[in-house]
Amino acid sequence: MKYLTSSDGDIALAAAALAAGKLVAFPTETVYGLGGDAFNPQALARIFEAKNRPRFDPLIIHIAEKGALEKIADPGALDSEGRERLALLAARLWPGPLTLILPKKKAVPDLATSGLPTAAVRFPDHQTAQKLILLSTGAVAAPSANPFGYLSPTRAEHVREQLGDKTDFIIDGGKTKVGLESTVLDISSSQARLLRPGGCSLEQIEALIGRVAVFSPLSSDSDAGRSSPGQLKSHYAPRTPLVLYAPGRLGSLAPKGGEGFLFFDRSSCGAWLAAGNAGGANRGKAFFLSETGRAAEAAANLFDILHKMDDLGLSLIRAEEAPPEGLGAAINDRLRRAEAAGECRC
Ligand code: TXA
Ligand code: MG
Repeated sequence: MKYLTSSDGDIALAAAALAAGKLVAFPTETVYGLGGDAFNPQALARIFEAKNRPRFDPLIIHIAEKGALEKIADPGALDSEGRERLALLAARLWPGPLTLILPKKKAVPDLATSGLPTAAVRFPDHQTAQKLILLSTGAVAAPSANPFGYLSPTRAEHVREQLGDKTDFIIDGGKTKVGLESTVLDISSSQARLLRPGGCSLEQIEALIGRVAVFSPLSSDSDAGRSSPGQLKSHYAPRTPLVLYAPGRLGSLAPKGGEGFLFFDRSSCGAWLAAGNAGGANRGKAFFLSETGRAAEAAANLFDILHKMDDLGLSLIRAEEAPPEGLGAAINDRLRRAEAAGECRC
């Protein structure tokens, strides 16, 4: 594995490697992706191997110009309402943290879509990612660059620690801005469905296309009925078990040795420390997601702080939910899945 920078020379080198079937981890505005040429089945197979990802879980194909959509998706297979939705969403929210599920073109390898009749398409809002995609093949399949089920990487170091030599290159673009994966929205049929809350809020989407049905794997009893193959109940999880509390409920708990506390904002963390929880064995084990209580800032810090807490060897992470509006919904989705992963380990 070789580290690269975001310089034009390094991006050109990485783009040539991608076009030649190699794997390149690269930054996007959401999280780092593990990229391979979407039309090269060998490269796609290596992505699944590197992540230890089940083959039933399809990949997102990244583009960097709207015209490239037609290489992957077949908007002609949508009804007129569907085409209108696609036009609105692409015009207003691309580039950005929104992945659209659309009827696929035949030429897209089955490995990319896990044999589904649909494909996931995303246009990332990140200069390095865009240059890389444009200079390579124009269509780059890229799941988050982490082993299957673990926290997504928000820094190049996370990718190196988690995937090491399983990728040929890592482009270091610093900490990602949004910090949570893209929102996955299925508009392949007559009812638009939210499959994964993410960096683009449901409110933003509904303001454009009206009501969207929300699929929640967390409220269903098993993974069997999931609509999106990757919507496993336990996912996006640190190694450390995590327990989740409703907003405001964490502040009254006293820590036991070895436990970490994750508050939503600085003031609730500060009040808890001031209440006599600052000393001794607890030092350095309390964290907060946002200085000012803003969900976007909290989202940007979530995986970064969970990575840090995971490295402390804690026995348990006690975490507080975000207020559920806007990006708070996506934060709580990830925290609930992390909690569910612990239940699965028991
Ligand atoms: O922000 C992101 O989306 C990042 C960056 C790298 O772009 N990528 C990412 O990819 O999170 P991944 O593979 O970790 O998550 C893709 C999700 C999975 O839950 C997968 O099941 C779902 O998208 N997906 C992909 N194709 C699908 C399809 N045809 N139908 C339904 N869900 C699909
Ligand atoms: Mg992922």
